[in-house]
Amino acid sequence: MPSTELPQPRFVQCHRAEPAALRLELVAGLQAGPARIAPKYFYDPLGSRLFDAITELPEYYPTRTEAALLAVHGPAIAASVPRGATLVDLGAGNCEKAAGLFGLLQPARYVAVDISADHLRHALLSLQRRFPDLDMLGVGLDFSAQLDLPPEVGPGPRLLFYPGSSIGNFTPEQALTFLRQVRAAAQGGGLLIGVDLLKPLEVLVPAYDDALGVTAAFNLNVLLHLNRLLGSDFAVQDWSHQACFNEADSRMEMHLQARRELTVRWPGGERRFARGERIHTENSYKYRLGDFQALLAAAGFAQVQAWTDERGWFAMVWAQAQSA
Ligand code: AVI
Repeated sequence: MPSTELPQPRFVQCHRAEPAALRLELVAGLQAGPARIAPKYFYDPLGSRLFDAITELPEYYPTRTEAALLAVHGPAIAASVPRGATLVDLGAGNCEKAAGLFGLLQPARYVAVDISADHLRHALLSLQRRFPDLDMLGVGLDFSAQLDLPPEVGPGPRLLFYPGSSIGNFTPEQALTFLRQVRAAAQGGGLLIGVDLLKPLEVLVPAYDDALGVTAAFNLNVLLHLNRLLGSDFAVQDWSHQACFNEADSRMEMHLQARRELTVRWPGGERRFARGERIHTENSYKYRLGDFQALLAAAGFAQVQAWTDERGWFAMVWAQAQSA
């Protein structure tokens, strides 16, 4: 008798950093001059919701510009990328961006990668109901540290999907290292990536300093997350959100600035901050398309194709991985 049971997605959790190692990394950042907190700490449950809210703000153009590009150029993109590859979604979140491409790309398998396999469970279970014939795997992996896909991803060419312009949160040197890892992981497939492009300051700065103050809340919330991880005593009201464009490095920067002289304490340490002193929390690099294409070439990609909106604000880029 044929089985009527729905196929179930599989899940794999790869190595996670020990809490003690995370605490050491955080303390090193707080003690550095200038102090820094890595942007991955934005994404606790509240931070992830605040980020979702950011993507709906009128000032934050990247998400909707990218969605429009995929809607308009989806068929042309699908004609350029290999069909029947394994679709590997880096930073999958709710998996909706990739799911919108299943019809066009016809992947053989869908692999959703995010920092925790548990975060993917709900999204993949409901996606499997909508696409019962597609083999699905959820992988918990901090790929910003090292993109080592587990063997469960399987053989054959892979189409790595990295939307949202998160590549901009790496320095260009880190981006090159990451893109080389992507090339190796693609097994002869390639990369479909969203890249935010350089544009006028009047557009860039409000995107990171919106009128409603959602980005300010997103930035400040990292302090509450640190208090939980580290046992520190940051008081959110002592800090202000700052966003500025660093022209020399072609990047938006976010900082938290002390409103008064203060001391932050955590078990085993403390740091004094002068009034006006800052903690650097994020860089968001804005590329010229030609410079990003050069970075892809240096990482071992060829046959690069790009689709941009008419204002030239954002690019969807397909790049074929060369064999080593
Ligand atoms: C996730 N990343 C691409 C966002 C960006 O634009 O750099 C994070 C963000 N920071 C402030 N607003 C949004």
